[in-house]
Amino acid sequence: MKETLLKAIKEAGALILKHFNGPFAVSHKDGVNNLVTEVDQASERLITSIIRDAYPDHGIIGEEYGAHEIQSRYKWIIDPIDGTVNYAHGIPLCCISIGLMEDETMILGAVYNPMMNELFFAEKGKGATLNDLPIKVSEKSDFEKVFLVTGFPYHFPEGKNPFSIFERMVTSGIPVRRLGSAALDLCWVACGRFDGFWEYNLNAWDIAAGYLIVEEAGGKVTDFRNNPYTVWDKETLATNGKIHEPLRQAIIA
Ligand code: IPD
Ligand code: CA
Ligand code: CA
Repeated sequence: MKETLLKAIKEAGALILKHFNGPFAVSHKDGVNNLVTEVDQASERLITSIIRDAYPDHGIIGEEYGAHEIQSRYKWIIDPIDGTVNYAHGIPLCCISIGLMEDETMILGAVYNPMMNELFFAEKGKGATLNDLPIKVSEKSDFEKVFLVTGFPYHFPEGKNPFSIFERMVTSGIPVRRLGSAALDLCWVACGRFDGFWEYNLNAWDIAAGYLIVEEAGGKVTDFRNNPYTVWDKETLATNGKIHEPLRQAIIA
């Protein structure tokens, strides 16, 4: 399964790299700026066909083509391009994300940004790597010195305002970035570039792989109430572990 995962993500990586900067057709999903390119769709078809050839009896959930209803202990969760709005504008902060779940446990995850040639990978219980070298979350424990990343969903959850949290952090002097790819945000926490990440309303395909990569790099992932995390959650908080509680408090304040 690891071999199939890596084959699929590398082939899809070559495809999205080849078409980076276009030309390609762009259409809109729900909402004017929720884009999908023909490369997103081709990438998902390619990944799905590689998985189907190897494991015809496994379930697959992809962002662009939905769920293939097969009763199986194994589910592959695919984001064929995470950071599509960046991709559509020639900004190389985007990637492919593929996670594999056995029952309800994530067992394999890979996130690949071919534009930067960075392949993040994790296997449950075996650690996380970036281009085959082991990675670890940062060591920082002083909340005043943290470096954070967040994202804003296409649709704001009812009664929540992600900007008030953002404003609170920034006005207290904490540097916060917004890259536009949740899967990369998670991986950049996993390799210690950022100390923490939060976002509302992500989907399973945005987080499936990155969540395992953070945990296997020694980090912590929960919802905003500190509950154990599942990929179906609508609140994502991922940190190096040491700043988890102060960041959680700052989010719910
Ligand atoms: C989006 C990105 C973005 C996040 C959005 C996601 P897409 O995924 O991960 O960073 O803020 O919530 O939907 O649409 O580029 O696959
Ligand atoms: Ca996504
Ligand atoms: Ca996507």
